[in-house]
Amino acid sequence: MPGSLPEGEPVPPDGSLPEGTLVDSRPLSFYVHVPFCATRCGYCDFTTYTAEELGGGASRDSYADDAIAEVRLARRVLGSAELPVRTVFLGGGTPTLLPAADLGRILTAIDSEFGLAPGAEVTTEANPDSVDAASLSALREAGFTRVSFGMQSVVPHVLAMLERTHSPGRALAAVDEARSAGFAHVSLDLIYGTPGETADDWRRSVEAAAAADVDHVSAYALVVEDGTRLAARVRRGEVPLPDDDVAAECYEVADEAFGAVGLDWYEVSNWARPGGECRHNMAYWRGDHWWGVGPGAHSHVDGVRWWNVRHPAEYARRLRAGESPGAGREMLDHESRESERVLLGIRLREGLALDDLPGRMPVVNELLAEGLLQPGAAVAGSAVLTLRGRLLADLVVRRLL
Ligand SMILES: C[S@@+](CC[C@H](N)C(=O)[O-])C[C@H]1O[C@@H](n2cnc3c(N)ncnc32)[C@H](O)[C@@H]1O
Ligand code: SF4
Repeated sequence: MPGSLPEGEPVPPDGSLPEGTLVDSRPLSFYVHVPFCATRCGYCDFTTYTAEELGGGASRDSYADDAIAEVRLARRVLGSAELPVRTVFLGGGTPTLLPAADLGRILTAIDSEFGLAPGAEVTTEANPDSVDAASLSALREAGFTRVSFGMQSVVPHVLAMLERTHSPGRALAAVDEARSAGFAHVSLDLIYGTPGETADDWRRSVEAAAAADVDHVSAYALVVEDGTRLAARVRRGEVPLPDDDVAAECYEVADEAFGAVGLDWYEVSNWARPGGECRHNMAYWRGDHWWGVGPGAHSHVDGVRWWNVRHPAEYARRLRAGESPGAGREMLDHESRESERVLLGIRLREGLALDDLPGRMPVVNELLAEGLLQPGAAVAGSAVLTLRGRLLADLVVRRLL
């Protein structure tokens, strides 16, 4: 079962925002969380439910209608301001366990309530074995412009340790099917540091992703999340904890292999060809407004952050009663918003403007002298992580804050 939600103040039943929240004409993003998976991978603690875990009161079949009810609630809460939606991201869970027609209906609801901005980026995540050529074509026809596959590895024993259900080659075949279906933007997710993964295993996965016809790759170190089957195996001493030095080596191998084929880093864990950057993630990292639809989804509008109830049955019950599914919220004060801007901004290749770091210049100068930061090449007067700084990004953030 997924972990717990943060604590916060209650969200009013009508979902209204605190007085003074500025719902201006800044572009809005939508995240739609689809909380269903065929099976749960042993390392994952995301809000997602298998058919057996779901219980009564909610079903995959009724999910699209409930999500559409939340899109309509969003329109009521945000009022009549012009809020063109620049990016939509369907994540999970496994969005593609639902029929493409259901996902298309949710997208149409966002378009009819708010209007999609011209050239909007519309992404869905997909498990490689949850799609085929026909479903990818249907998604493209429904208006999706980008698809992100969870590949993780091409090595059988690594996929087995992660309890992934797809074969080593399936993600790469799915990339070709997505291209044939007309997707201009295709991404692959990789994980490194899986117990038992050798340096050679990781190199094979990285090289396979680099050779694939994609314009974006994410690579994340495996996190052993409390409460997962993987954490229990680590606790029992059956498998070792991922090692930090190994993770640093994996990162360098990935950065070099991706760079060699024109996939450049634009955020610490993300690489893209020019124009292939995920605009939706950039909206998070730049602190824009986004509305998170679905069980356990988080939202942010003008420093107000709220999160939905996690169970799909309670989520459905609230929306069917005309109530907000919000479980709690918090108002970020100036200091927290500043910290968040630094925390997220420094992980980007565009870096942070030095003018925006008043009071932090002594530590910035130390980090520059230690070779963890460098002056930004793209934006004058900015500070950007070096390769060593990217390997130690968490430490840099701690020192900056
Ligand atoms: C939550 S999944 C949703 C997409 C899809 N279900 C999949 O697995 O590809 C998004 C990404 O998060 C990664 N992820 C989930 N738990 C993780 C963990 N504990 N450590 C590192 N990456 C993780 C997944 O492997 C996946 O690539
Ligand atoms: S398929 Fe994705 S969301 Fe589902 S359990 Fe595995 S990693 Fe988590």
